[in-house]
Amino acid sequence: MAASLMKRVVSCSLPLSRHYSSGLRKVTLIPGDGIGPEISAAVKDIFEAAKVPIEWEVVDVTPVRGPDGKFGIPQDAIDSVQRNKVGLKGPLATPIGKGHRSLNLALRKEFNLYANVRPCRSLEGYKTLYDDVDVVTIRENTEGEYSGIEHEIVDGVVQSIKLITEDASRRVAEFAFKFAKEQKRSKVTAVHKANIMRMSDGLFLRCCREAAEKFPEVKFEERYLDTVCLNMVQDPSKYDVLVMPNLYGDILSDMCAGLVGGLGLTPSGNIGLNGALFESVHGTAPDIAGKDLANPTALLLSGVMMLRHMELNEHADDIEKACLDVIKESKYRTGDLGGNSKCSEFTDAICQKLS
Ligand code: NAI
Repeated sequence: MAASLMKRVVSCSLPLSRHYSSGLRKVTLIPGDGIGPEISAAVKDIFEAAKVPIEWEVVDVTPVRGPDGKFGIPQDAIDSVQRNKVGLKGPLATPIGKGHRSLNLALRKEFNLYANVRPCRSLEGYKTLYDDVDVVTIRENTEGEYSGIEHEIVDGVVQSIKLITEDASRRVAEFAFKFAKEQKRSKVTAVHKANIMRMSDGLFLRCCREAAEKFPEVKFEERYLDTVCLNMVQDPSKYDVLVMPNLYGDILSDMCAGLVGGLGLTPSGNIGLNGALFESVHGTAPDIAGKDLANPTALLLSGVMMLRHMELNEHADDIEKACLDVIKESKYRTGDLGGNSKCSEFTDAICQKLS
């Protein structure tokens, strides 16, 4: 096995207690919308080929109207994640129009998924601008500009509140340092704009500094968001683990995904107090949905992160290697990676390596 493949593309060891019964572990699967069902089916096939000892509990999250008249996640889906404590989720279309909330936001709130972890690493054999990208963005996932507090003060004047709390900032900052320490990474960079938002980003930064003091073995630095963006596209090797408030993380993590080949490749984990939900970071890709053209890699590598979270490391390693080998060999690649294979052909090639 090539040395670089020995290094894990996606690893995530998480501070959650686990309560599993013996035998097959149940995992909630939310296939999602658009390309979601296709890439979820691919992951199921690959997990089966790798003989992963889990049982999928498939749930539908098509919004249902609640007592307040608003549409939200069905109770069955919530109960399933509560029970299983771990889930894999495909992309969900954000409904447009009154009475609808973003289901992604609703899931984050429901399960208090406070940290979004996105590893981005260059893939061997798939040429991008840089060969040495290896960063992990850790994004505060519950507040900031995404707190959903917006109102119109008077006609034509709208206010949107950026909410930063000490509790949430400290929680994600400490998670970032713990993650860096456990994954043997050397440095955490706090990304902020405390020069402009002195109080809100200032509070976030203070929490990062305090967390840094508790982890003296991990280097700590503070950088402005704009500086990080500039450096990231000029020399991504400057960074290792980055921790930041919600909106900055949303943007920066997609930028990092772009450096390694796009959204079809990037996995993520949402870590919560009551469970963890792993998901591909791309959307429902309506332009290619139902055409067997989607790249299932992002969801598959999210599944790999999930397996490591469940301490099924051998299965995770096998699947990751099979997937990366198929990409490296370049015989079967989906359109987003410049190939002309179908999703099902790429999936079969991975399954063959596992069986
Ligand atoms: P998108 O990520 O769905 O698509 C952007 C482009 O990337 C499209 O050209 C698409 O074909 C391509 N793409 C995305 N995933 C791919 C994959 N796995 N393989 C190959 N190509 C892929 O973003 P867009 O169009 O802005 O959003 C569509 C819908 O998805 C919206 O309703 C949006 O709200 C939702 N969305 C959901 C997310 C989630 O559930 N986590 C995240 C982002 C968007």
